[in-house]
Amino acid sequence: MPANNSNGSAAKKPAVKKTAAKKPAAKPAVKKAALKKAPARRSTKAKDDAVFQERLARHHDELRWLYMELYDNGDMFAEFVQEMERFFHERASELKKLDAAREAEGAWYRNRNMLGMQMYIDNFAGTIKGVEEKLPYIERCHVNYIHLMPFLDTPADKSRSDGGYAVSDFRRVMPALGTMDDLSHLAEKCHEKGISLCMDFVMNHTSEDHEWARRARAGEGEYMSRYFFESNQAVIDQYTRDVPQVFPTTAPGHFTYLPELGQSVMTQFYPYQWDLNYRNPRVFNEMMYNFLFLANRGLDFIRIDAVPYIWKQLGTNCRNLPQVHTIVRMMRMIGEIVCPGIVLLGEVVMEPKEVAPYFGTVEKPECHMLYNVTTMATTWHTVATRDTRLLRRQMDIVCDLPREYTFLNYLRCHDDIGWGLDYATLSGWGMEEVPHKRYLNDYFLGHTPGSVSRGTLYNADPVTGDARFCATTASMCGIEAAGFEGDDEKMSQAIQKDVMLHAYMFTQSGLPIIYSGDEVGQVNDYSYTEDPERAEDSRYIHRGKFPWELVDKIDDDTTVAHRIFEALGELEGIRRSEPVFDADAEVSTKDYDDTSILWIVRRAGDEVLHAVFNFSDETKTIWMPERAVYTNLVTGVSEEVETVELSGWDFIWMKRA
Ligand code: GLC
Repeated sequence: MPANNSNGSAAKKPAVKKTAAKKPAAKPAVKKAALKKAPARRSTKAKDDAVFQERLARHHDELRWLYMELYDNGDMFAEFVQEMERFFHERASELKKLDAAREAEGAWYRNRNMLGMQMYIDNFAGTIKGVEEKLPYIERCHVNYIHLMPFLDTPADKSRSDGGYAVSDFRRVMPALGTMDDLSHLAEKCHEKGISLCMDFVMNHTSEDHEWARRARAGEGEYMSRYFFESNQAVIDQYTRDVPQVFPTTAPGHFTYLPELGQSVMTQFYPYQWDLNYRNPRVFNEMMYNFLFLANRGLDFIRIDAVPYIWKQLGTNCRNLPQVHTIVRMMRMIGEIVCPGIVLLGEVVMEPKEVAPYFGTVEKPECHMLYNVTTMATTWHTVATRDTRLLRRQMDIVCDLPREYTFLNYLRCHDDIGWGLDYATLSGWGMEEVPHKRYLNDYFLGHTPGSVSRGTLYNADPVTGDARFCATTASMCGIEAAGFEGDDEKMSQAIQKDVMLHAYMFTQSGLPIIYSGDEVGQVNDYSYTEDPERAEDSRYIHRGKFPWELVDKIDDDTTVAHRIFEALGELEGIRRSEPVFDADAEVSTKDYDDTSILWIVRRAGDEVLHAVFNFSDETKTIWMPERAVYTNLVTGVSEEVETVELSGWDFIWMKRA
């Protein structure tokens, strides 16, 4: 019988938890000490207790209701509440102050001065301490949010780590990168400088090296019940039929056979990433304790990895099931009770209609922020087709959502670009899914005449004809090709395209994220093909060592790095200082005759921004809505204009007061 049906309430497990539940021994001791020593502290403790109780009371009924709906286990819920209280009391007073300030401010993460950067610790600075030493550079980039790519313990062998997304210990930093103390120290230093830290919480699966997986592999039923074990081939076949493949070529199938057990374990991602079984309340409780443990290290944003996948149900496609929303809603409440300064960032790489529900509702919110994934993919589609119609439609969808919904905007991240576009619409315009994906991939591979992009395919599936794409922003914009050919004119065009795409990203509401290296035009790194541990995963093409040699040249105005760095810095400064970029501004797109022109209008108070982007090689004459005085925010010139000449891949930010 498959172990995945067993209910974790029968779990013998954690002596620790039981002790915590039955014998709150630590507490009276603390109270006594407080009594003897410092009455002032006693009142702080009393205040603290009151804060916790008040927050718990606010959410208790709903939290209990949802928990019981999933698990119907009052003892486990009681344990859970007790543990939340323990994590709350363990939370450093500085973090509690930050929580209070953020609660008072409201949606602090929506401020237009926010600018993010995502980076690999080892590529950027070797270790966590190294990142701390590089904070002056991060400040020079105007960045006040750092997403540290996975750094928890993971197999050192890169062919079994999925870039750190196969976690073998949620409470230990990978030794080569540092320690938990280094992390807390970095968080402290960041907070002093007003910088927030983001980390991944990979809750869908663990590494096969995680203690639970090792014990499950050894046949311990209690641990087997934390994963999905299956010996019935018919069930495995049904999953194969009903559930789409995540890595169809690099890791086909949904189960991995373990000969020592004569059973298969569910592995939707790589075979060494075992899917956790959230039907087992022990899994939920322990993973939430891990979440709170990490929150207490001083993290500000928790990126919940692969959210749509966390609940599995035979007979469904195992994506976006209602129970996933229940779990995310519970996480939101847990955060609001223990550490309300924390922002939940959901990684939902799905079509738009599946993404927005992860915000929850205004009364019952789930994630604070989500990736604007379809907009990102549609942007690159627009680069390749020079047709802005789909991007406009996509922007209209986003602009119609409630303004409280906050998106994380990006051009590139550590993953491939999956061409998740609105094919129903494209088909109406004569672009069918499979040939169009082929067109996009050919274009970005640089195979199409006129294309200046360079990169590589990812998970090309011979069965469906599907393939995704990998490369850095700079390489996709032509900086790699122009540099290789030593062609200055091509280089200027490539830089212009790169800067324009960033300007477009900054024009959107939400949190803009720069992929570390993009600020200096880092190109593809092909060295992964020579390394057997990485060669199979072409995402490493855009995960190269950070090019400090380019940073050394950012003050030399003859360099590409300087031109990009300065241009982005200027745009970021404008975004920070101009209220038209406020998250609450009203945003819309404007109908314009020429489909290679994208026109975005932002209104805040009496000010209106016309942001116009030319997605073509040709110079265009742009007719402003009326002859009037506009301020070009980039040049600073205010003058009366009726038309503006916009060269290929250029943009204007024109403000009308
Ligand atoms: C997320 C990550 C990706 C990883 C996957 C499995 O999608 O972004 O890099 O491979 O989760 O954890």
